[in-house]
Amino acid sequence: MSRGLRLGVNIDHVATIRNARGATYPDPVRAAEMAIAAGADGITAHLREDRRHISDTDIDALAVIVKRRGRPLNLEMAVTAEMEAIALRHLPHAACLVPERREEVTTEGGLDLVKGHNHIAPVVGRLAGAGIRVSCFIDADLEQVASAKAMGAQVVELHTGAYCDAVREGDPRADELLERLKAAAVEASRLGLEVHAGHGIDYETVKPIAAIPQVMELNIGHFLIGEAIFIGLPAAIQRMRALMDQARAELAA
Ligand code: PXP
Repeated sequence: MSRGLRLGVNIDHVATIRNARGATYPDPVRAAEMAIAAGADGITAHLREDRRHISDTDIDALAVIVKRRGRPLNLEMAVTAEMEAIALRHLPHAACLVPERREEVTTEGGLDLVKGHNHIAPVVGRLAGAGIRVSCFIDADLEQVASAKAMGAQVVELHTGAYCDAVREGDPRADELLERLKAAAVEASRLGLEVHAGHGIDYETVKPIAAIPQVMELNIGHFLIGEAIFIGLPAAIQRMRALMDQARAELAA
């Protein structure tokens, strides 16, 4: 049940563990099934250009199971012709456009929609034209929000990585980074964009982010898969879900 704030579970790192041994297990599709049973409102997967975790076969199988379970698939993808063709073939519920550099460990920073407008806007148009809900993964920056609106995206996903890192490292800029996320969420919502948030979220950082009233969806992966080692995936998802619900309940009180 979404209770106004959906939880998308990113299962990429189940595939990371599988691929570390070139094995067939653990299976990210099984993890997706388990995540849905534990209360995930959707499944998120990033098919990277270098296929370092999720594979094309995983996407084929995920598309089938989310459909069977009546949950949305959110395909994270770089803005490339190859990924666009895959998205247009699968027609996932949503596509989240992300920047991608081969040498990065994870998605470091949001898409620069201002600089990349001429390259990205036509892709947004073609995906949206095919009925895919297009999201742009951006830093909490008002210019980027305006640019997402101008190019016809329906959703912005705010990159929460800098805020989450600051909290974990005890960096005094954490409060300011949270304020920036709030301001970007307010502006995106004012422009009629749906607001999502993700990257680096854990049990400690989820509540302040979930308490931003404009945020409709959180996409969380690495922490949940890590925590699953200790308490199991269903328990990790249920605890995250409970913290999200607490944050929303406190907001309403
Ligand atoms: N949202 C987007 C757009 C991402 O690229 C990622 C990382 O793949 C996430 C959310 C999830 O981040 P994490 O794995 O740190 O929870």
